[in-house]
Amino acid sequence: MGFVIAVDGPAASGKGTLSKRIAAHYGLAHLDTGLLYRAVARLLLDKNRPLDDEKAAAAAAYALELAFMDESRLRGAEMGEAASRVSVIPAVRAALLDRQRDFAAQAPGAVLDGRDIGTVICPDADVKLFVTASAEERARRRHRELVGRGDAPPYETVLADIHARDARDQGRATAPLRPADDAVLLDTSDLDVEGAFARAREIVEATRGASSLR
Ligand code: DC
Repeated sequence: MGFVIAVDGPAASGKGTLSKRIAAHYGLAHLDTGLLYRAVARLLLDKNRPLDDEKAAAAAAYALELAFMDESRLRGAEMGEAASRVSVIPAVRAALLDRQRDFAAQAPGAVLDGRDIGTVICPDADVKLFVTASAEERARRRHRELVGRGDAPPYETVLADIHARDARDQGRATAPLRPADDAVLLDTSDLDVEGAFARAREIVEATRGASSLR
């Protein structure tokens, strides 16, 4: 078993960017587990199936071949919302469990980011980070990004979407979004990307065994 870093947090918290940086810095593999749920939602939508069709969703999750999916069709707030809907289905979560654990088990180690990595997927992870920021700050960042793409709804709409997604991800019965008891909280509300990365490195390096990493 390699060195495992679990990174959880709500939508638009910056955990994806941070996880990529951490993985590159320490020479570890990286898995954005949100992509798995997005891909399940994409398969359902492509087949014109409703997102709450539990049987079809579980079948899609088992059949998933992420390597063959076009990532550009999985990005965006709309797919994030669709992913959040399929992710409440326990059979979907069960179908994706081993794949995530197999990924985590590779040498020399891996960084996985998502909602339930530290609580359910890798409860024995060497380091657990819970990355967060206020809903307003996350909405500001997401809004800025959408303005940059020339495709922005009003800020209030973005904020309402963030609140709705938080409520669903935190309120579901199976593997809800919450920090593991032994997770270190990293609030990025007042940090830029560099600041968040510096703090994350401090947390990783304070962990026993991290000295074997680059
Ligand atoms: O991180 P993201 O925005 O790509 O995730 C999209 C949705 O997928 C998220 O709102 C909830 C679900 N998800 C999950 O339930 N568990 C994970 N480990 C990752 C994502």
